Amino acid sequence: MDYYESGSYSESTLRSNSEDLAKLKIRQRVLAGASDRDLSQSLLGEALSLPLALAPIGMTGMACRDGEIAAARAAEKAGIPYALSTLSICSIEDVAAVAQKPFWFQLYFMKDRGFTADLIARARAANCSALVLTADLQVLGQRNRDVHNGMTIPPRIGLQTIAHVLSKPAWVAGVLLGKRKSFGNVQGYIPGTEHLGSYMEWINSQFDQALSWKDVGWIRERWPGKLIIKGILDVEDAREAVSTGADAIVVSNHGGRQLDGAPSSISILPRVADAVGAETEILFDGGIRSGQDVFRALALGARACLLGRAYLYGICAAGEEGASKAIDIIKNELDVTMALAGVRRIGDIGRTSLVS
Ligand SMILES: Cc1cc2nc3c(=O)[nH]c(=O)nc-3n(C[C@H](O)[C@H](O)[C@H](O)COP(=O)(O)O)c2cc1C
Repeated sequence: MDYYESGSYSESTLRSNSEDLAKLKIRQRVLAGASDRDLSQSLLGEALSLPLALAPIGMTGMACRDGEIAAARAAEKAGIPYALSTLSICSIEDVAAVAQKPFWFQLYFMKDRGFTADLIARARAANCSALVLTADLQVLGQRNRDVHNGMTIPPRIGLQTIAHVLSKPAWVAGVLLGKRKSFGNVQGYIPGTEHLGSYMEWINSQFDQALSWKDVGWIRERWPGKLIIKGILDVEDAREAVSTGADAIVVSNHGGRQLDGAPSSISILPRVADAVGAETEILFDGGIRSGQDVFRALALGARACLLGRAYLYGICAAGEEGASKAIDIIKNELDVTMALAGVRRIGDIGRTSLVS
């Protein structure tokens, strides 16, 4: 749970993501005739039933057995996209085998270009409808709780870890005794590597600090479909992303897990929307925990929000059903918020929906 919940270093960016969202006050409007509300939204040419998507979360399959498949199914049922992480436990093929609709694939651009090209080819073969290039993880921000718990590279398994595991028999039965316990997309790629620890070591050596905007062209040559660049937290970077031909960007600070001291995602969103909102579609994440938060982000220029920990908690609690419940709670909150704010359509939510 600490791995899922933590932010990097002092966790100041993690905290400001939700604190800054909470500061935004929504205008209450009365007698506005806000019946027959419509929560649907179009994104990248697709019709979504809600202005939401499920964010890529590494190792979701450690929260419950086949967690990525659970998330993909919950997203499908809700009529929203699911983004599968490069660092998932279930592989692209595992999810594709059960998915009824195309899902998104999130790409970490690794130093091993053969591996990266292979991932892109696998995403194409699986008919993924968008590639989400995560740009803000050229090196790992240290999460102090992980160091404390021995969730390190290589992992440190002490008596405390063993005691924790033994106190969770349902998790042992579900995950530990399950079939998939490693990084599904990497498995089999490095000969002689079998356990999670050695995969973690390899993956950690693969993040490429030399990457630049030029490298996006390399991806474009291999991926003709929709391209989303995730991890934008600066107006200049937003402009660069648009000039590479990205179809959408995600204003994000990786849920406060990377640059500690960076501003909250929501504080940057309006500036990015002013700069490039007319040229690209803007997605948003970081601290979304309620329908009111979704409303706030839409008001400041997001077309849709990615749920991160909000659905992950659902997966932890009750797998697919838990994720569906989390989405449902947020949907209902958004609907009620729209009613009380006097708004009938997602497209009518704007800056004037907030108290200035
Ligand atoms: C446990 C965890 C793992 C994550 N793994 C990935 C990942 O593999 N790829 C990625 O692009 N983002 C990853 N993220 C970031 C999320 O996609 C998203 O940006 C973030 O969770 C949004 O913040 P929130 O959870 O506070 O809403 C991860 C986030 C968490 C909490």
